[in-house]
Amino acid sequence: MGQHILVIDEGTTSTRAMLFGVDGKLQGSQQEALQQYYPAPGLVEHDAAEIWEKTLSCCQKMIEKAGGADKITAIGITNQRETVVAWDKRSGEPLARAIVWQDRRTAGKCDALKADGLEPMVQEKTGLLLDPYFSGSKIGWMLENWPQVRKAGDNLAFGTIESYLIYRLTGGQHVTDASNASRTMLMALDGDDWDDELLALFDIPKQALPRIVDCAGDLGTTAVDLFGGPIAICGSAGDQQAATIGQACLEIGQTKATFGTGAFILTNSGDTPPRSENRLLSTILYQHQGKRIYALEGSVFVAGSLMQWLRDDVGLLKYAGESEELARSVDDNGGVYLVPALSGLGAPHWRAEATATISGLSFSSKKAHIARAALESMAYQCHDLKTAFSADGVDWQGLRIDGGMVANDWMVQDLANILDITVERPEFFETTALGAAMLAAVGAGLYPSLEAASVMISGLDVHEPDIDPATRTSRLAGWQRAISSALAS
Ligand code: G3P
Repeated sequence: MGQHILVIDEGTTSTRAMLFGVDGKLQGSQQEALQQYYPAPGLVEHDAAEIWEKTLSCCQKMIEKAGGADKITAIGITNQRETVVAWDKRSGEPLARAIVWQDRRTAGKCDALKADGLEPMVQEKTGLLLDPYFSGSKIGWMLENWPQVRKAGDNLAFGTIESYLIYRLTGGQHVTDASNASRTMLMALDGDDWDDELLALFDIPKQALPRIVDCAGDLGTTAVDLFGGPIAICGSAGDQQAATIGQACLEIGQTKATFGTGAFILTNSGDTPPRSENRLLSTILYQHQGKRIYALEGSVFVAGSLMQWLRDDVGLLKYAGESEELARSVDDNGGVYLVPALSGLGAPHWRAEATATISGLSFSSKKAHIARAALESMAYQCHDLKTAFSADGVDWQGLRIDGGMVANDWMVQDLANILDITVERPEFFETTALGAAMLAAVGAGLYPSLEAASVMISGLDVHEPDIDPATRTSRLAGWQRAISSALAS
């Protein structure tokens, strides 16, 4: 019997293996950055072979640290969602680059389906909107445009990243967990299998898709040659669902926001799929013993990636943390607003073709104003979501936040100020990985339920609003002008 849980946290920009004690304490972490491919504006690709090799080597290092495979009770996996891989079932090798969730190449196809009046049917079944974000249109595009994918015939396998990793880890188990499956646009929220009508929209053969399974339970066993002994895979969920679990949002109405590459806000909706009238998404939070819990989601495509872009491509920041120093160095935004539509706009606007804008510049504008406007855009985007959630009858009582960006104290306080609610930040920020560890612990039978596994979670620090209401109103009015003109252009 082992004493550890190994978590694979495969994100958009890096992959990690993290070693947890069964008490939820982090004991080690190994991370590798992933190459991003931008072949043309709007296109974003990954090399799935690189993802596999780097994930494997991170896992091997953590297993060695634990003292061997027999010291690992279970593996939990969490991943960037929607990104799709096509591979050869015989070798497990990718047939082409993975198409990443941020990729907009199927915007035309989605528009055509919308023009045919199909969005209400898609939304009713899947809880999603016709946007290139989701996997279905990306799989259809691969089949149509990459001959090696089409020609693979019976040997063709598709899957989201966790599905690909499980296939490689187990040496051929083709499964996907229900939370990831709910992001493909190919499964009805209350369906057990892929939906024929949805498959037909994108011309996708069902036999190339994985079997849909629970997020906690027996998901397969690793091939013996990988780690010197078999390890059970007992947990899997998309990264945003895992973070919701790791934030202990296990009761209806509890809400979290994760500021990673993008910003994703999920409210637990219990065992009935929520229905949004305000361009939010319904999604599966997790499935255990065949029973599903759902969430209402607002997906913002750009958060931490904005800081990365300002640092690496624009040269405005020397390091990401400089944004906080710059924001604090000025009294206000100086009238500058940044709409970070670097890969279109997600919820609640859903405008795939929108581009980013910086407005309100004058000779008195300093780089600090732009950095501050960039950070402020996080709170404004969340405010737009708060309005949409509220219109759907879901009023946030408070917001639990996590992800790399929440190390920025200025941004955390600004969120509380603009949202006008209590913002809670966990002492341990890695809630995505923790949620995957909790699922694996439940799947391995260490805890009977996620509620019981929440003893693995650490404490929270609390931030209350501390801003003059008139300032909040005037800043929100400035953002409204900026986003309206970005949407009009
Ligand atoms: O839906 C995309 C999301 O899963 C990406 O997450 O952590 O890379 O921002 P992240």
